[in-house]
Amino acid sequence: MNTTSISPIIQASNLSRTFNTEKQIVPVLKNISLDIHPGDYISITGASGVGKTTLLNIIGLLDTEHDGDMLFSASRIAIVFQEHNLIKTLTAEENIALPLFAMGVNKKERIRRACAALSQVNLLEKNACFPSQLSTGECQRVSIARALVTNPDLLIADEPTGDLDSMTAREMMELFSSLNRELRMTIVVATHNLELANCATQKYLLKDGVLQKIDTNNSNQVDVQIECSDIPDTTKSNLVPQSPYIS
Ligand SMILES: Nc1ncnc2c1ncn2[C@@H]1O[C@H](COP(=O)(O)OP(=O)(O)OP(=O)(O)O)[C@@H](O)[C@H]1O
Ligand SMILES: [Mg+2]
Repeated sequence: MNTTSISPIIQASNLSRTFNTEKQIVPVLKNISLDIHPGDYISITGASGVGKTTLLNIIGLLDTEHDGDMLFSASRIAIVFQEHNLIKTLTAEENIALPLFAMGVNKKERIRRACAALSQVNLLEKNACFPSQLSTGECQRVSIARALVTNPDLLIADEPTGDLDSMTAREMMELFSSLNRELRMTIVVATHNLELANCATQKYLLKDGVLQKIDTNNSNQVDVQIECSDIPDTTKSNLVPQSPYIS
C-alpha cells in the first residue's frame, strides 16, 4: 500500500545517540531519519550491539537523550521489550491486565481481554502462573499478549521471537502479519530472525550507526547489504535459504 500521502505517525529526523560512560564515549546512532505511516510494517535488523534497541527506545519515547527531532502522533503505543519486563509478583493474566487497569477498564472486562490476549499467543492454560513458573519463551509470549491487550495503533517489538522455538516463532510472525493486514496495526520490529524481518513490508538494516533501507526490488543491492557478518553467529540458523530479503 502506498502510504506516502498519509501523514506519518512518527517522523524521526537526523536522530543521533551517543552514550557517555566513565571510560568511553560510544556513538551509536548517526543522523537517522525515518517516517512511519499508519499501517506500516517495518523491520530493523543488524548485528548485536549495533543500536536497534537504542533506536526503538527513542521511537517509543522511552529515551529522549538524543540529538535530532522526533514528531510523534500515535494515540496508543505498546512495546514488547527484549527483556520482557514482567512483574514477578503478578500472574500472567494480571501482568497482561495491568495496562488495562491503568486505562480504567473494569475488572470483568480486564480479565476477559487478558484471557483473549493469552489465547492469541496460545497460552491461556498458563493464565494463573507467575513469571517464575513460566519458561523464558512463555514469558516472551506473555509480554507480547500484554502489548496486544490494549489494541495499540503502534506496536514496537524488540526481538519478540528471540526466546522462541522456530514453530512458536512462526506462530507469532503469523499473528503480527495478520494484525498488520487485518487491523492495519502499525508495527516496528527489531530482530535477528530474518524470517520475521522478511514478514515486514519495509525492511531496514542498521549498520555502523546508519539505517539503510533494503530495496527488495533490487536483489543485487540486497545481497550486497545483507551479509552474514551483519548477523550474530547464534542467529545464523534463522537464515532462510538464498537471499532472505526477497519476498
Ligand atoms: N545506557 C547505556 N550506556 C552505555 N552504553 C549503552 C547504553 N545502552 C546501550 N549502550 C551501548 O549502545 C550499543 C547499542 O546497544 P543496543 O542495545 O541498542 O544494541 P542492539 O542492536 O539492540 O543489540 P542486540 O541485538 O544485542 O539486542 C551497545 O554498544 C551498547 O553497549
Ligand atoms: Mg537489542
